[in-house]
Amino acid sequence: MCGIVGYLGQKAVVPVLVEGLKRLEYRGYDSAGIAVVNDGRLHVRRASGKLRNLEEALRHNPCEGSYGIGHTRWATHGRPTEENAHPHRDCRGEIVVVHNGIVENYLSLKKTLIAEGHTFVTETDTEVIAHLVEKHLNGSLEQAVRNALAQITGIYAVVILSTKDPHKIVAARIGPPIVVGLGEGEFFVASDIPAILAHTRDVVFLGDSEMAILTSAGVQITDFQGNAVPNKPQRITWDPIMAEKGGFKHFMLKEIHEQPRAVRDTTLGRISRDTGKVLLEEMKISEEEFRKVEHIRIVACGTSWHAALTGKFMIESLARLPVEVDYGSEYRYRDPVVPPHTLAVVVTQSGETADTLAAQRELKEKGARNVAICNVVGSMVTREADGVLYTHAGPEIGVAATKSFTTQLTCLYLLALYLAEARQTLTQEQVRNYIEDLTRIPQKIESIFGKIEYLEELSKHFFRSSNFLYLGRGIHYPVALEGALKLKEISYIHAEGYPSGEMKHGPNALIDETLPVVVIATSNINNPKSIQLYEKTLSNIKEVKARDGIVISLVTPFNKEAIEASDYYIEVPPTNDFLLPILESVPLQLLSYYIAIRRGCDVDQPRNLAKSVTVE
Ligand code: AGP
Repeated sequence: MCGIVGYLGQKAVVPVLVEGLKRLEYRGYDSAGIAVVNDGRLHVRRASGKLRNLEEALRHNPCEGSYGIGHTRWATHGRPTEENAHPHRDCRGEIVVVHNGIVENYLSLKKTLIAEGHTFVTETDTEVIAHLVEKHLNGSLEQAVRNALAQITGIYAVVILSTKDPHKIVAARIGPPIVVGLGEGEFFVASDIPAILAHTRDVVFLGDSEMAILTSAGVQITDFQGNAVPNKPQRITWDPIMAEKGGFKHFMLKEIHEQPRAVRDTTLGRISRDTGKVLLEEMKISEEEFRKVEHIRIVACGTSWHAALTGKFMIESLARLPVEVDYGSEYRYRDPVVPPHTLAVVVTQSGETADTLAAQRELKEKGARNVAICNVVGSMVTREADGVLYTHAGPEIGVAATKSFTTQLTCLYLLALYLAEARQTLTQEQVRNYIEDLTRIPQKIESIFGKIEYLEELSKHFFRSSNFLYLGRGIHYPVALEGALKLKEISYIHAEGYPSGEMKHGPNALIDETLPVVVIATSNINNPKSIQLYEKTLSNIKEVKARDGIVISLVTPFNKEAIEASDYYIEVPPTNDFLLPILESVPLQLLSYYIAIRRGCDVDQPRNLAKSVTVE
């Protein structure tokens, strides 16, 4: 977590840094700071709390400079105070460092540095980097940084400058991302693209164990030994407007509304309606290899894990392949067995979740080829993948995943169809019909927006509740999990997702007249199995009602019995079983949003969270 930014060019540096930090606040928002150099002197401003506090501090105590660095923090070591806010300095105040990651051996380094006469003023692990660079600085800054980093263990993205080697910014990374922006006579570094998108679309993604040296003459990229690394600038197609709120009150609401466009963009170019084929062009894995796959392992965290669980239902049913789904954070700790002909699927919005990346590496080490389903071009997970299915959701700024989830479901559906074709478990005609269903989804999501007033109204009844249950069966169970996660992360209401059939094994004891129970009771009228499942869910609704619980059901229009048995119901348009989860997710996102708004919560930046979890 944490967002870092740096700028060297002709513009006024402070607004560039502050605007950049605004775009990175999703990565952490418990304190922020900048350091700029003016006439050879370093000026540092920091504040605890959100970025507006730093802006306030800058209004009271302005500063100017010709180059500088900035940081927005998600605390790992040391409380979120002004003192612990980045940038951190060396003893003489000539070197400043911003850091995203964890210095694992900071305690022993700190002890040694103190014994050598260095004075520490913060509780952070980052401060050791400033003192280490100070210790090694007797020539170029980049060499001092190399020597300092050689002593550090852990993961980090760091950006450093020093008045002793002026007009230079050095950035380096192992783990968390750094993107370098190339403008006309101006250069940028940042944790993520939106921070620099207003200035340039030409970027270089710094690789692991690489370093960027920015001067007014240009950008040099080296490895940690100082050898030049060829860099391939990439052109980003995202529009800066895509990263703005576009008239919506919150990024989350805007991103919920973007889902028809996002699902359409994720589908386009990957399907042929004429031939009834799914085309996955970004693959280094041949069709032959896909045909030989015997096992699928999917790894992911959080919302992406819920998408992965949904994908299991899609792939097992459509392509008849056994699928195991694991949490990235658990996978490598159980010495997993990876049989030959295993295809790994790595699902992640950011492409930089540390646990997911570690699971991907474990799978690679054990011989599995891997496909990433990811939203961020050039991110770490995509670099380590043998093929990428990009979710063309566009930048997702709200901490709560919305459009990334529904586009992940879209990619998993496409992958399931692709595998089904390769393995001939579906006929061409069947694949064509499934494709046809997918092309109708954006329109169907639009129609759900017609229920916004009702959902807003519904939130009035429930925003004071202290607990919620979400129930689902089969492919709808992961949607129940996701509905519960959305509610808890943005409204701070305790919510549980549960498989409906498991209620009688314990959780029924929770039900009383105060408990809202959201039941996913949709079905596909053309599929007898789906109707069977629905009938079982109907019994669950009745069981909740018999114990005085409050039922809010999610139904397809023909599920009259569920409508009658429920206290409230939300209709979603019909579609096939594998696409229903996309449609079900949208009203659940909206319900959570409006409940959270009524409770006065900060939906875009919920407490204690950050968008990208780059630490274990
Ligand atoms: C969901 O709303 C959260 N933001 C979180 O669970 C997220 O899905 C998780 O941290 C995984 O992130 P990733 O998709 O970027 O790997």
